[in-house]
Amino acid sequence: MPNELEEDELFFQDIDVLQSHGINVADIKKLKSVGICTVKGIQMTTKRKLLQIKGISEAKVDKIKEAVAKCCSSGFFTALEYSEIRKQCFRISTGSMELDKLLGGGIESMSITEAFGEFRTGKTQISHTLCVTAQLPGPNNYPGGKVMFIDTENTFRPNRLRSIADRFNLDHEAMLGNIVFCRAYTSEQQFEVLDMVSAKFHEEAGVFKLLIIDSIMALFRVDYSGRGELADRQQKLGQMLSKLQKISEEYNVAVWITNQMTADPGATMSFQSDPKKPIGGHILAHASTTRISLRKGRGELRIAKIYDSPDLPECEATYAITNEGITDAKE
Ligand SMILES: Nc1ncnc2c1ncn2[C@@H]1O[C@H](COP(=O)(O)OP(=O)(O)O)[C@@H](O)[C@H]1O
Ligand SMILES: [Mg+2]
Repeated sequence: MPNELEEDELFFQDIDVLQSHGINVADIKKLKSVGICTVKGIQMTTKRKLLQIKGISEAKVDKIKEAVAKCCSSGFFTALEYSEIRKQCFRISTGSMELDKLLGGGIESMSITEAFGEFRTGKTQISHTLCVTAQLPGPNNYPGGKVMFIDTENTFRPNRLRSIADRFNLDHEAMLGNIVFCRAYTSEQQFEVLDMVSAKFHEEAGVFKLLIIDSIMALFRVDYSGRGELADRQQKLGQMLSKLQKISEEYNVAVWITNQMTADPGATMSFQSDPKKPIGGHILAHASTTRISLRKGRGELRIAKIYDSPDLPECEATYAITNEGITDAKE
């Protein structure tokens, strides 16, 4: 692998290149129909999953995997090479410098950031602010880009975006035009729509920088209610999160998901100060790279705390919810 890595080569190698390795157009189309559009996308998919695609036989799967191996690196990198890949990572500002600092500079691409908290802690307001800030150029030559917003709770409000845009002097129509919105009504739809998201990210390679799901668990909670359905729910949830993880790496986008909380029945037995915890269990806990918990402070003030991160300490930051989105708390 060369030292100077082109972003296109790394992230967006179209599976059309497989034609030159003997894969026919019809089969490539079949792969694309299920949201597999890049060579890396195939690498990230198990043989078993590929076999589930209509018209793809075992022999074909082997041929496809072989072709992929020919036009792709083995998956082994030196740490030096990997640090080149990580250089493509960027961060998107939350609108609050304090909150950005807590997150190590904003929410990070190639990973999933999860915010959980009770009602009115600002999860949706942060989501809206990110829709706008993702469009602004940032540090490390970040050019700004488009946003995909999946709303499961019917709380997406373009008018909120307008107020936030005014803070950055953005043209309303241009700003709103850069956000693609989808309202999901069932957990199944929320899952399936991710294939369309991949297709869109592929179609406009390198243009989308942020994918938001507000909120990740609401529909799962409704669709799978009983205790007996929990295992089923977790399995589906796991599949969806794995898709999200792949999308974040395959297209180098930041993924921002919000989550609710529930009373922790085990908490009364311990000395926890806050007997609530995020829902989604271990499956969600492991899928999210960075987790922050949000809670209410006085008035418009809110407090965020790092709950889990591979490289951030467990600190807190205060931010405010204003008409112009998330800002630093004024003291
Ligand atoms: N235009 C606005 N100006 C100031 N505060 C607002 C505005 N719109 C909503 N808020 C505040 O945002 C909070 C709700 O935040 P939200 O992000 O919807 O919470 P949740 O965590 O439930 O998604 C409420 O306290 C509300 O008063
Ligand atoms: Mg909300």
